[in-house]
Amino acid sequence: GSGLNGKFKSHGRVFWGTCADSNTLNIGQIATIIKSDFGGLTPENSMKWDATENTQGVFTFSGSDALVNWAVSNGKMIRGHNFIWHTQIPSWVTSINNKATLQSVMQKHISTLGGRYAGKIYGRTPNRMLIGTDSEILNEDGSLRSSVWSNVFGESFVALAFGYARQADPHAKLYINDYNLDSNNAKTQGMVALVKRVNSGGNIIDGIGTQMHLGAGGAGGASAALTALASTGLDVAITELDIAGASSNDYTTVVKACLAQPKCVTLTTWGVSDANSWRSSTNPLLWDNNYKPKAAYTAVLNAM
Ligand code: G3I
Repeated sequence: GSGLNGKFKSHGRVFWGTCADSNTLNIGQIATIIKSDFGGLTPENSMKWDATENTQGVFTFSGSDALVNWAVSNGKMIRGHNFIWHTQIPSWVTSINNKATLQSVMQKHISTLGGRYAGKIYGRTPNRMLIGTDSEILNEDGSLRSSVWSNVFGESFVALAFGYARQADPHAKLYINDYNLDSNNAKTQGMVALVKRVNSGGNIIDGIGTQMHLGAGGAGGASAALTALASTGLDVAITELDIAGASSNDYTTVVKACLAQPKCVTLTTWGVSDANSWRSSTNPLLWDNNYKPKAAYTAVLNAM
């Protein structure tokens, strides 16, 4: 095949994806590019807790249904995103400090959202994250960070959440996902150790996602990161790739690192065009503000 997804799959990989939601799918140029170059979609915001259950027990699926229906009618795979996170969760959740209450809230949220799209999701990414001003779940030294989840349950919230996800959608690949797993650093080693601890109790986590929001020149550790994560024996996914400046060298370094690692099964860039990127001022994506492919796009195709 041609296009990013076709070339990527010719190496035996599952799909090359992008994030999207109605705001981007409704842009004609974006829809055309996704149809030709991408094999999978991650909902950029529409499956997050604040978008789906902002009021307790009242579920809103308009945004996520639109994404899922678009993906299904265009033959794209879907990566769920996300059940458990520290941010974009409403205060009615973060204010719970009772174990039994938080457990039933977690179960209801995951089973309702997971059940609605059961059978349609390829790889879910329950981000491990925390409440408060900081972001995701692991500290940079690899330890478990404070969050409503860890404060109430300790580390056991990971196995709990994955257990509910497994019940809701037994065939989905369940991923844990974090940022700054960009080299074989302390956080990467903490992730490897965490996954081994959790999976010592059975087949709970199927894969590890490394987001890879990189700075310019920041791709040098990607290969070592993928090797370390793959040492768990689990599948590995690059889930949110974007690189400030989008140099051809940085992008091809990451893509070659993935292709050199047989466990690196999917690669998702976090958007199509710089115009719609969460960090658009750094021009981190493969299509420019006018939806024209950049030099790095051609370089990546050639590298594959
Ligand atoms: O929907 C509201 C809209 O009603 C309101 O008028 C507007 C005013 O600011 O905000 C809109 O919500 C925004 C939402 O995106 C939808 O556009 C939020 O403010 C904004 O914070 C949110 O940003 C998203 C961010 O996650 C939130 O944490 C980005 O689009 C999204 O790309 C980004 O993605 C995250 C991944 O999920 C997890 N990993 C890190 C990555 C980058 O931060």
